[in-house]
Amino acid sequence: MTEYAAPRGTRDVLPSETPRWQYLESRFRGICALYGFGEIRTPTFEHTELFTRNLGETTDVVAKEMYTFESRSGRSLTLRPEGTAPTVRAYVQHNLGASLPVNKVYYVARIFRYERPQAGRYREHTQFGVEAFGSLDPALDAEVISFAARFFSAVGVEDFGLRLNTIGCPNCRPAHRQALVEFVGDKLSDLCAICADRFQRNPLRMLDCKEERCKAVLASAPMMVDYLCEECSEHFARVQSYLGEMGIAFTLDPKLVRGFDYYTKTAFEFVSGELGAQNAIGGGGRYDNLVEEIGGQPTPAIGFGLGLDRLILALDAMGVELSCEASGTVFVAGLGEAGHEAAVKVTFDLRGRGVSADMDYTGRSLKAQMKVADKLGARYVVLLGEDEIARGVATVRDMRTSEQESVPLSELAARLASA
Ligand code: HAM
Repeated sequence: MTEYAAPRGTRDVLPSETPRWQYLESRFRGICALYGFGEIRTPTFEHTELFTRNLGETTDVVAKEMYTFESRSGRSLTLRPEGTAPTVRAYVQHNLGASLPVNKVYYVARIFRYERPQAGRYREHTQFGVEAFGSLDPALDAEVISFAARFFSAVGVEDFGLRLNTIGCPNCRPAHRQALVEFVGDKLSDLCAICADRFQRNPLRMLDCKEERCKAVLASAPMMVDYLCEECSEHFARVQSYLGEMGIAFTLDPKLVRGFDYYTKTAFEFVSGELGAQNAIGGGGRYDNLVEEIGGQPTPAIGFGLGLDRLILALDAMGVELSCEASGTVFVAGLGEAGHEAAVKVTFDLRGRGVSADMDYTGRSLKAQMKVADKLGARYVVLLGEDEIARGVATVRDMRTSEQESVPLSELAARLASA
């Protein structure tokens, strides 16, 4: 049967697992409402150029991880490998900037990257993301970061680490780039092949390499923080001061370079100690030039994306119980033909009154039906045997207390609806 297994790097989320996913999604939506983010839903695929032109040609995602295909008309399309560029595309296309000075949107989206699968790294994953357009105010950076921190605390991830950096802007970056290239100079042959390529095309990304030999060479490399222009420097100081006022702890990490080229100024990542190699549960930053690059008016912006799959792994590893149990269903156990017929009617009526109910369709014994009720976590079982039918009643069993009482069939739905 393996030929019909889900493709490598993808997973099924089964009904026993989805309550956790739904719970996290509803908490996320709740905090979005608290912060004034409205939901945006963009297509699962976009024109390929949106990504190739705007994420950075040399980024791993564009260079080797996109699911790209040709439509029947010969147009190149790509399953979204991230959520920011599509959101910016929609922002520009619908001229959202004209409606409000600051636009704040969020999404819950499936993301596709052809990566080598491993624990916490999938070829299809789900991201919760927020993007805020229209202001350079460092208070907005602090708002987005505080949003993320609040969400993590709300769902029980207390021990997350926040790594913070600034990667400057087109004014100050060239000087840093120059210094970095000069620093590496004759040490180039000590770097890995990927960094040798980055050296030519995108030196900043060398700082983020996980290879030990590259880390060793770059340990004392010039850092962006020492080359910031006045505006970037002032901005970064104020972001830190707002976070301080909000009581949000962070670690400055001058080597933090995010995986896309659109970032400017603030860059951050949330990490969990529970996750091993793939320890980033969320990350984001400013991208003050992307809206203009995608064809809109110059509009500064900031956002972040959170990996739901990794968040769930972290919560599991921490043994966090999420309060997402279903609110007790009713199981209707009919015995014999008359009992079965009555069960169909009772189940239908209960649902009509908004009571979650289910019944047996396999003609099982009472004992077997009680087992199913238990498995379903039923709060009450309604027993409809020959004796009950003859008396026009049902026996209602409270599964928590094991108490039983006889209830006239005509009152049953109303009684359980108010139980
Ligand atoms: P990213 O850091 O590439 O940023 O992804 C955000 C989060 O998605 C990561 O921190 C991680 O938790 C999760 N993630 C990424 N790849 C995988 C994978 N293969 N399997 C499981 N989880 C994964 C972005 O995508 C930016 N668009 C975030 C952003 C929004 N920046 C500004 N606004």
